[in-house]
Amino acid sequence: MEIVILGVYVADAAYRCDRMPMAGETLIGRGFTLGPGGKGSNQAVAAAKAGGDVGLITRIGQDTFGAMADAVWDAAGVQPLVTRDAARATGSAGIFIETGTGQNAIVISPGAAGAIDPEQISTHADAIANAAVAMTQLEQSVEAARAFLQTARDGGAATILNPAPAADIDDALLGLCDYVTPNETETEALTGLPVTTVAEAEVAAKALMARGVQKAVIITLGAQGALAWDGTTAQHVPPLRAGEVVDTTGAGDAFNGGFAVALATGAPLVEALAFATATAALSVTKEGTAASMPTRAEIDALLAR
Ligand code: RIB
Repeated sequence: MEIVILGVYVADAAYRCDRMPMAGETLIGRGFTLGPGGKGSNQAVAAAKAGGDVGLITRIGQDTFGAMADAVWDAAGVQPLVTRDAARATGSAGIFIETGTGQNAIVISPGAAGAIDPEQISTHADAIANAAVAMTQLEQSVEAARAFLQTARDGGAATILNPAPAADIDDALLGLCDYVTPNETETEALTGLPVTTVAEAEVAAKALMARGVQKAVIITLGAQGALAWDGTTAQHVPPLRAGEVVDTTGAGDAFNGGFAVALATGAPLVEALAFATATAALSVTKEGTAASMPTRAEIDALLAR
């Protein structure tokens, strides 16, 4: 496998609504879907559909939501490196999506994936060490992420940490990462700096890089695109518009999946950012997370436009 991803699979229960509900309020929604989600699984599906040879390390229960996972991985061509937990249920996420803006708010309960530990990582040490690219997030424990990144580093894989959701991580962990890819709020949590503009993102990227990231910090900025700092040069990648924005949920996962595929083929940073941006731009034109990931043909067509 060229790309090995550690992360969480959950079933996404997504409600469309005119605006976010307030505490104590009941809203009538505009629709509901139940589908595959979880940042690790979404990134694996994105990478596989974008042409990557992808394995996913995760943990699910032996239940209906777990069966949904197998179906989506099979359809996308993701190779499951999966522990099937007889004692725990597959996780789930509740998602609210504003119909007008496509913006979202998420609560995740990782379920079985919350039990991924360093021992489970060690059973996949060979696959991790032999990969060209190893990528993870922070929906499972930080200690599992650390074991994964250390194994990848020892084996010579390029390492990507998408620090989502934001967590309290130390400089030693950041030092195991070639690339770190937070969004605005995650960057604010990691640096204590505001990130509302591209200029602020550059300042924050430099601060995060100084904590030990090896090759580049890439901050995704939603409608403002992305900002990358590699220690000498700042690159602002403007957003691409591939159609009407209907659902931004999973756009960060699409970006990371596309980025991993481009890196695995040896693309330089500037090209990898363009590929990642195109993958994300297409994903927001469809509803769902894993379900919205574009094919390689769609990405190539958008980049050629
Ligand atoms: O990034 C989007 C994902 O975050 C959703 O699929 C949800 O499951 C949460 O993990």
